[in-house]
Amino acid sequence: MKRIVLFASGSGSNVENIVRYFHNEPNVTIAAVLTNKRDAKVLERCNNLKINGLYFNRNAFYTTDCVLDILKTFNPDLIVLAGFLWKMPEKIVRSFPGKIINIHPALLPKYGGKGMYGNHVHQAVKDSGDIETGITIHYVNENYDEGAIIAQEKVAIKSNDSTEKIAEKVHALEYEHFPKTIAKLLGLSMASPETQK
Ligand code: GRF
Repeated sequence: MKRIVLFASGSGSNVENIVRYFHNEPNVTIAAVLTNKRDAKVLERCNNLKINGLYFNRNAFYTTDCVLDILKTFNPDLIVLAGFLWKMPEKIVRSFPGKIINIHPALLPKYGGKGMYGNHVHQAVKDSGDIETGITIHYVNENYDEGAIIAQEKVAIKSNDSTEKIAEKVHALEYEHFPKTIAKLLGLSMASPETQK
């Protein structure tokens, strides 16, 4: 049995997509979804999907070993950051070497680092005049968006695409490729995956 723990800070559409993808896979358990936002929509999704949704605050994450200890009890094969906005504390990164991955909504090393999240990324891409953007799935280390790259996927953008349109294109890539990459990392060959948008 492969065990996944997810982290998210907001809507959690990627979380839902990943949960649905693995729904009929008997060898995968989504042990829990952890969030740093008490009112994040992802908690509502967890409720509907009937999976554990847990909230933690800054103190539990950075000052105490509370989140680390909870993670250890879940004994995850993979920790997946899917729209999680806080930097992972060093002690967590060191406790799960090679087991924490993140998705970034652009083609790293461009448009990464502190402050580069959500719409800020898409705005920066638009302002740059780039003709393509994409997603980067990478391992997590102690610095934002700097771990080794696992996979990148690209999509063309037009100069008149709004940031909302760019976000939509990026989300489509995420829904298609993030669960598949997770399955691959876990060494699973998925027969008939369910995905949703
Ligand atoms: C995604 O675009 C992800 O790449 C970024 O945050 C967004 C999260 O979206 N890091 P959602 O919460 O999964 O809808």
